[in-house]
Amino acid sequence: MIRSASVALFAALCLGMPAVGQSPEARGKAIYFGEDPSALDTTLATISSTGTSLPARVFPCANCHGEFGAGKPERGILPPNLSRTALTKPYDVFGERGRQRGPYTLETFGRALREGTDPAGNDLDVAMPRYAFSDQAIADVWHFLATVQDPQDPGISDKTLRLAFLQTGDTASRPVLRSGVMAVVDGLVEDINLQGGIHGRQLDIVHVTRPDDPAIDTAFLVMSLGRPERPPADDILLLQTQGPTGLGRRAYSLYSGREEQAAALRAYAARELTLVKLSDWSCDGAPVQMAYLVVTPDCLDDLPPDLPAFLTQSAFEALSAAQRRRLPDETYVALPSGADQIPQPSQYAFVRFMRSKQIAPGQAVMLQAQAYSLMSVAIEGLMQSGRTLSRTVFTEQIEAFDRFMGAVGPPLSFGRNRRVGNAGARIVAFSAQSQTFSPDATWIELDRPGGR
Ligand code: HEC
Repeated sequence: MIRSASVALFAALCLGMPAVGQSPEARGKAIYFGEDPSALDTTLATISSTGTSLPARVFPCANCHGEFGAGKPERGILPPNLSRTALTKPYDVFGERGRQRGPYTLETFGRALREGTDPAGNDLDVAMPRYAFSDQAIADVWHFLATVQDPQDPGISDKTLRLAFLQTGDTASRPVLRSGVMAVVDGLVEDINLQGGIHGRQLDIVHVTRPDDPAIDTAFLVMSLGRPERPPADDILLLQTQGPTGLGRRAYSLYSGREEQAAALRAYAARELTLVKLSDWSCDGAPVQMAYLVVTPDCLDDLPPDLPAFLTQSAFEALSAAQRRRLPDETYVALPSGADQIPQPSQYAFVRFMRSKQIAPGQAVMLQAQAYSLMSVAIEGLMQSGRTLSRTVFTEQIEAFDRFMGAVGPPLSFGRNRRVGNAGARIVAFSAQSQTFSPDATWIELDRPGGR
């Protein structure tokens, strides 16, 4: 009694949540995948072997029946295919445990979820939870199962796969740079499509210059050159050259951004120079410290000349020649990767590609190399993902990259808690007097960069 009263109260509190106004398919999909919010929030589920009731949120269907309803085998049990076609087959099917049953209807489907019996009255395995769903929730899931086997993420069709390429800032506003980059991207797409596409799908690329361009919502994956300060959207799949990390749960960077460079500078100061404390440089004339960490180029003219300064790449690049001359004697800069770290085969592959497309490596060559790298990572991830593509599948493939050599840069590795492919920075001393970098650099590796 008490339990159902509290569920009812909870349900009442949840009224007016966005899910209520959505279509039955969308609500059913939210239940299936355990998206927030969904009817799982207000439902209890029982594990029949132990009789314990838990919030149904713990058991989204996709956990066991898989992203496309085909079932994920676990501990010797294969949850059956849940596509509407499979459930409503007009003949008896043999289940994994030799169960025989007739086709499901909405009514018998509801009984399977609530009571754990199939249309023939057989008990379902105890591994299938019993859900205290409302009639509406059951109808919603039933609706959704008609399309569970279809791709759920945008940009995927039977014959094509849409990708977006985003250029912002400088690279977007200068036509030479922008068209130089586009030539590389389009050239790679052309090569792939001539070979038959990826798993039977032709690549269809859209070039955009704003993170809020509506075309982004129609793409499976977004590649971003430059540094958008704002994520396109939280669940978008984003591959970018450099930070900022934490732009969403599916954002990956090839190289270290500002946060990682700052972390590398701190580690370097502590390890190599035994400076225990780096103070963030700010404009308010802070009292004398041991050394300063500079991530933005503001008020640098006031930087004390006799204390070491540690600059991220973007802070350094933003300085004028006059400002560089006034930097402290002891200045260190973090650089995300160095040309000497690029494996030769990667360099050759890039040069061969540029020649084959007759693209002259002009002013844009650094950006072109980055665009080539982003495309290589995307293509490799798509190849590994197979034909049954989804953002989740792609994410799993990317996170299995271990020293991938296809980029024009150092090898890239990603993992569950590793969102930056080449995680670390080279720390180089800069001489304000001679305006040159010291020839020896120290590589600082970061352990769990961009992990959240
Ligand atoms: C913890 C794992 C798990 C979760 C979560 C789960 N199921 Fe199941 N489900 C199973 C297993 C295992 C079976 C097979 C039972 C058997 O064959 O006796 C099954 C069987 C079924 C069946 C019977 C299919 C048939 O052919 O007779 C239906 C319908 C079903 N599940 C629907 C759902 C729905 C809808 C959800 C989410 C609301 C869900 N399941 C969540 C594990 C799970």
